[in-house]
Amino acid sequence: MKKIDICLTPNLLPLYELSDRIVVVVDVLRATSSITAGIATGVKSIFPVAEVAACQALQAQGYIAAGERDGKMVAGFSLGNSPFDYMNEALQGKSIAMTTTNGTLAIDKSKAAKEIIIGSFLNLTAIATYLENQEYDVLIVCSGWKGKFNLEDTLFAGALVEKLQDSFEYECDSGLAALCLYQTAKGDLMTFMKNSSHFRRLKHLDVVDDIAFCLSIDHFSVVPYVINGNEIVKK
Ligand code: MLT
Repeated sequence: MKKIDICLTPNLLPLYELSDRIVVVVDVLRATSSITAGIATGVKSIFPVAEVAACQALQAQGYIAAGERDGKMVAGFSLGNSPFDYMNEALQGKSIAMTTTNGTLAIDKSKAAKEIIIGSFLNLTAIATYLENQEYDVLIVCSGWKGKFNLEDTLFAGALVEKLQDSFEYECDSGLAALCLYQTAKGDLMTFMKNSSHFRRLKHLDVVDDIAFCLSIDHFSVVPYVINGNEIVKK
């Protein structure tokens, strides 16, 4: 049977062998939700970079610069990190360079993977179906917050494990823990999330609509994936 494991924060990545696995990077609030929304609605490609300076360099080459630090849009960029920013007709066919506090960093740190795909609640079933049809083991990489655990990415991991539990087995207890957490929360994800650190951070920034949207399941059926080492496109 294929195996599924969960890396609960990017700081734990050195514990995992990536080269023979498909890695699903998730940053529910909000990077991978925004990437999913953009790629599903016509953005041609997104270049995730870890550092603001690298994003500015791509901006100078003509890319649309996007992203945040501590939830706020970077000064001089055209887009922040709200999924609603990325669902815009003006972005159809365009390429975006993106940097975020945790999500793009997690993508960068996962580069040794056989393949990287981008997961969120918005494309949960599409991701599950894709993985079911591949022959490789899977690692879900939770982006967390500045190297630490977060609730929302672990909830997504649990939702994916629930969908895949008949065709995959988990190796370490993180799969079981995430599944139990998701099964406790799934009746009302929004209420469950209300005391979490990033909910409180984003509420402070007055973007609660973003949270509700990012917690909605199967809005899109797209599987964004990384090609050429650093370009996210539609599969
Ligand atoms: C991140 O990558 O850290 C997040 O997407 C932060 C945010 O909510 O903007």
